[in-house]
Amino acid sequence: MNEIISLLQNHRSIRKFTKEAVSSEQLSAILTAAQAASTSSNIQAYSVIGITDVEVRKQLAALAGNQGYVNECPLFLVWCADLHRFEQAVQLHGNTPVTGNAENFIIATVDAALAAQNAAIAAESLGLGVVYIGGLRNNPSEVSQLLELPQLVYPVFGMCIGTPDQEPLLRPRLPQEAVYHENRYTDKPSAINVYDETIRTYMKERTGGKVDTTWSKEMAGKAMRPREHMKSFLRTQGYEIE
Ligand SMILES: Cc1cc2nc3c(=O)[nH]c(=O)nc-3n(C[C@H](O)[C@H](O)[C@H](O)COP(=O)(O)O)c2cc1C
Repeated sequence: MNEIISLLQNHRSIRKFTKEAVSSEQLSAILTAAQAASTSSNIQAYSVIGITDVEVRKQLAALAGNQGYVNECPLFLVWCADLHRFEQAVQLHGNTPVTGNAENFIIATVDAALAAQNAAIAAESLGLGVVYIGGLRNNPSEVSQLLELPQLVYPVFGMCIGTPDQEPLLRPRLPQEAVYHENRYTDKPSAINVYDETIRTYMKERTGGKVDTTWSKEMAGKAMRPREHMKSFLRTQGYEIE
């Protein structure tokens, strides 16, 4: 196993950080790694906003569901899907404006996620820890107003970065045969039973025996329609998702 694979396999989200700042050299290396990610047709349909203003950070922490680590982490980045710059480039040539149709929505969202994940790995390779913050989508309109996002830009998620001040257990993943299929999709329901027991053991260990749950039970609790406001919010940002 090489160092990169070992780093990837040792990922765990970090939610408690020391006060040590992320240096401008570290930030620059993280962003350069993010920019090296593959990107649909070289559109680079994303932007990332570093939040250095204490007040803005406080407001974002509240908007993300009062997640304290958003406020406390040394570096907080907001990853945005961004077709605005693409539109500006297109308009330089008098072409028709870019639409936020379903395909362009996918392109921009995937581009933002790929760049962010490169950033996360780069940060971890520097000994830093990260956690994604999808909680920003609890209040996407307020976040967009606060960050003055133009049309065709929307916040996909935030990311806390800093020196870890905790060593969480690795969260086990599904058995590989559950996610890997050969040649055709094959249902493997028994993998869920296997994973349920893995998660039961993990949760007991993580909580000192206080929580007895399984993966499927946790998923059942999430089976409602999450963040139903996203459809109308995306429309206000210029994405026509039906
Ligand atoms: C897009 C995305 C959004 C997430 N949002 C949050 C969040 O708002 N708050 C949080 O504490 N963790 C968040 N997470 C972290 C996940 O809970 C975590 O990655 C998952 O439980 C697996 O745990 P691990 O990263 O420690 O392996 C998010 C992860 C992703 C990929």
